[in-house]
Amino acid sequence: MAWNLTEAMEYYKKQGAPADQNALISLLREIQQDQGSISRGLLPEIAAFYGIKETFLLAVIRRIPRLRLADTHILELCAGPNCGKATALAAKAEALCAAYPGKVTLKFTPCMRMCGKGPNLKFDGRLYHQADEALLEQLLNR
Ligand code: FES
Repeated sequence: MAWNLTEAMEYYKKQGAPADQNALISLLREIQQDQGSISRGLLPEIAAFYGIKETFLLAVIRRIPRLRLADTHILELCAGPNCGKATALAAKAEALCAAYPGKVTLKFTPCMRMCGKGPNLKFDGRLYHQADEALLEQLLNR
């Protein structure tokens, strides 16, 4: 099963986050483990979910040396046997990322194991099903 931000936030809420900072740090570590770094674009969603300020999250990230904050968004396109057939979607993603240099890092991933809901993509860790070019435009024009 693919990693899911909402499920992870709910899990760590049950573990005591955000009052228990160790639970919050565990969530941040899990995000980083999944994505290689913590995208700045995720902070508003995490802050809203827990009812805390983004500045508090930034302070926690900066206090823990092993946590890394990325200023760019991370767009992951499933390139598995089913989603990979959406070549127009991949071409649009490459074109949009080229149009916004430094704003987005594009990655192609193996099958996300939700083939029936594809094409699938993740944007800053959030999973989107039945992705199309309009969704890409919407995400990258935020
Ligand atoms: S090919 Fe994309 S989820 Fe399987």
